[in-house]
Amino acid sequence: MSHEVVEKNVSLMAVLIVVVISVAGLVEILPLIFEKSLVGEPAEGIKPYNALALEGRDVYIREGCYGCHSQQIRPFVSETERYGPYSIAGESVYDRPFQWGSKRTGPDLARVGGRYTDDWHRAHLISPRDLVPESNMPGFPWLEKRFIDGEVTTTKLKRLQMLGDPYSDEEVANAAAMVEGKTEMDALIHYMQGLGTARSGR
Ligand code: HEC
Repeated sequence: MSHEVVEKNVSLMAVLIVVVISVAGLVEILPLIFEKSLVGEPAEGIKPYNALALEGRDVYIREGCYGCHSQQIRPFVSETERYGPYSIAGESVYDRPFQWGSKRTGPDLARVGGRYTDDWHRAHLISPRDLVPESNMPGFPWLEKRFIDGEVTTTKLKRLQMLGDPYSDEEVANAAAMVEGKTEMDALIHYMQGLGTARSGR
């Protein structure tokens, strides 16, 4: 008859529903916070982006490069033959937000670091068709003219440090100097030249 009590008392029923949903929710949410294998530990050799690369990553996001380029090599032979070893979760732990993407109008960029020279990237980003005549990638010439603001960079590193990214105080202190006089183009190229190169043994 205790069930009848609950059914006839709306307030009690409401409280019990909240209790049941809360417990069920915690059972799902808590492991995501505490279970290391689910949170994602950095893979060997993976470090947070240095100040210049971080700015480059932000330019990459702002310009919407992810709309045409994925950064996730899938575990298929056709992929690994073309792009290199497939991506693993531990490589993306410092990507907020992650850049895996799913649209590939252009090639995957997860391991583009070191594939071309800085000069190639610069010329390609200014005018892609000068290098790849059939390309439909737009040019981004304005990146050459815009400079990075060191104060903003420092704030970004401080915030990421607060979120738990292992930046040393020295790295935060040196952030502004690292981006001094650098253009958004420099930052973007520096970011791309690091993609996929950090992971040792790969
Ligand atoms: C409208 C789609 C589109 C957008 C947006 C775009 N790309 Fe591309 N990208 C392409 C295509 C198509 C290619 C292949 C042809 C070529 O090399 O130009 C390419 C090639 C590349 C390559 C050479 C990759 C390789 O392995 O050969 C790089 C690097 C690159 N893009 C970087 C970028 C960056 C950085 C941005 C943002 C600033 C960007 N792309 C935005 C379509 C796009």
